[in-house]
Amino acid sequence: MKVTVAGAGYVGLVTSACLAEIGHQVTCIDIQKEKIDLLQSGRSPIHEPGLEPLLEKNLRNEQLHFTTNPHRAYSDADIIFIAVGTPETRDGSADLKYIHVVAHTIAHYIEQDVIVCTKSTVPVGTNELIQQIIDSRKPPNLQVEVVANPEFLREGAAILDFFHGDRIVIGTRHPEAAAFMEQFYLQLNIPIMKTDIRNAEMIKYAANAFLATKISFINEVANICEHVGANIEEVAYGIGQDKRIGHHFLKAGIGYGGSCFPKDTKALVQFGGNLKQRYELLEAAINVNKRQQSLPVKKAKETVGSLHGKKIALLGLAFKADTDDVRESAALTIVKELLEEGADVTAYDPIAIPNTRRIVGNAIGYTEDIRQALQDTDLAIIATDWDQIKHLPLEVYLTKMKNPIVIDGRNCYSLQSIGQYPITYLSVG
Ligand code: UGA
Repeated sequence: MKVTVAGAGYVGLVTSACLAEIGHQVTCIDIQKEKIDLLQSGRSPIHEPGLEPLLEKNLRNEQLHFTTNPHRAYSDADIIFIAVGTPETRDGSADLKYIHVVAHTIAHYIEQDVIVCTKSTVPVGTNELIQQIIDSRKPPNLQVEVVANPEFLREGAAILDFFHGDRIVIGTRHPEAAAFMEQFYLQLNIPIMKTDIRNAEMIKYAANAFLATKISFINEVANICEHVGANIEEVAYGIGQDKRIGHHFLKAGIGYGGSCFPKDTKALVQFGGNLKQRYELLEAAINVNKRQQSLPVKKAKETVGSLHGKKIALLGLAFKADTDDVRESAALTIVKELLEEGADVTAYDPIAIPNTRRIVGNAIGYTEDIRQALQDTDLAIIATDWDQIKHLPLEVYLTKMKNPIVIDGRNCYSLQSIGQYPITYLSVG
């Protein structure tokens, strides 16, 4: 089938590469020329495990094409996926300007009947708006059906999630479009849920809101554990054994970051607010998350007093392991707070330094060598659970640091193993 994907962000790129891999003729369009040039040479602008080999292979066998040309992208597509960004506006709501532009462009360039499938996370009602925009501008003889098809890919595991997702949600009440989409996804062998557009849109927000709330919930329990002398790792394991709760997303830490949870939770609160409907539980989850990100510096001050002039190693910058993405990363909050305290910070990360440097500049030092980051430091703060940090021989803290004090925001070490060393270790919960 001839597939077009609008947007070469992480959802658009993963969708393009994976659909080409299963035999579709895919054209991915983006307005950023430099990005398209890079992609045409087989290189990925984002770090996503397994993505680059798929891009290279499918470019070589001409299953996958990149373009900035809307005529080439849209005129003869059988199905168009919208995967452009919906960034946060100043009031927390989703900014739909890219969605509007794409809808107008599609209407202008299509030359045959087409299904338009929205993968971008959009507030309830947006797909109906996309349908209206296209209907009012398309050639009158063509039929376009807009389907909501939210995405549940995790950064760092997106290729795996594409081929082995828990479900595919297809939002349309148009029987032919629903049957078309079902057929399109059949070979992935993933359970398909057919529903209407508004339910599909809401499922995406509710899923992310639930997961974010689950993280804030366990972080609250962790904070109580610290005060009552319980251990959050064991408590989380104990409650996760109950199948109704489950083990996933019960890892306590310094809160969720990334391009999705922070943005989508705020958008849902804002969306409710517009309807004079407060979402108090989610507001609390957002506040807990904010507080959680400030815990490492608070604990640092409680442990060593003033941080002014102290040499501090920040281990990990990415919002989670296996990605170079630092958007809404807890590490950025920590950097800001440490700089406000007058600390001398050196950050370690295996791949997220270039993205951090773009935001933070040279206000801190950077290194891709953990040992170098720890050299002669008064304190170390762990912000990302990279394997390189989890598997670091614990003696390194003793041999490299001036004072072996480790504040671990991701619970990378068991209390039993680190307890064998004269290291002051403060984890979460
Ligand atoms: C999230 C969802 O997991 C995906 O299903 C969804 O498709 C995606 O958002 C999206 O809306 O596009 P992602 O942001 O890539 O995916 O990352 P997650 O693996 O969900 O982690 C988010 C944050 O929560 C990270 O900062 C992570 O460290 C934190 N987290 C996660 C915890 O603190 N504890 C946990 O138990 C799990």
